[in-house]
Amino acid sequence: MSGSARTSVAVLLSGRGSNLASLIAACDDADYPAHIVLVLSNRADAAGLDLARNAGIPALAIEHRTFGGNRETHEQAIDAELRAAGVECVCLAGYMRRLTPFLVEAWHGRMLNIHPSLLPAFPGLHTHERALQAGVKLHGCTVHLVTEAVDEGPIIGQAAVAVAPDDTPETLAARVLRQEHLLYPLALRRHLTNAAPVASEATLIAV
Ligand code: GAR
Repeated sequence: MSGSARTSVAVLLSGRGSNLASLIAACDDADYPAHIVLVLSNRADAAGLDLARNAGIPALAIEHRTFGGNRETHEQAIDAELRAAGVECVCLAGYMRRLTPFLVEAWHGRMLNIHPSLLPAFPGLHTHERALQAGVKLHGCTVHLVTEAVDEGPIIGQAAVAVAPDDTPETLAARVLRQEHLLYPLALRRHLTNAAPVASEATLIAV
């Protein structure tokens, strides 16, 4: 697929960036329908920014703290950078700021999020602890379109893992994270191409 036929994607993150890494790897495939043109973070110390720079992707911090608590002004600055970079689709990948209606509406239908649970179960934080406390036998991750309500919005794909009797939040998180790295590129592809579900080695992935 030529560069111009690919959708220009931005990734928003707040930390480590392992999902960014999986999206970068997917975009290395010439047939993948997206390329990452910008990585943005609300934290200048986010490791994901270095990861992007090392991959030759423009990376920018727009620190929310410098906006004195004005969420919408912060988002306007983000939105301006997204538009300046020609972004067509936004992937939230560990972006830990609650969005205002401004950014949600500006990117309606064009903003995806990955969440570490099988939504609608366990929206919000501490999903792995809560899954263990609830005694669920299946846990996992979800890629969905972003709407105004947090961790709601149409589901594009999910991947599940079995919960082991001796799981801790950490062991469960690590197993879910491996599925996140498989799921996000598949779900983004599905969103951009409306392709048929992709057969995967992980039969529990549904996109
Ligand atoms: C991921 O587990 C992602 O699902 C989660 O943050 C982590 C980011 O990891 N996102 C949320 O909790 C959003 N509510 P990463 O920086 O290594 O991709």
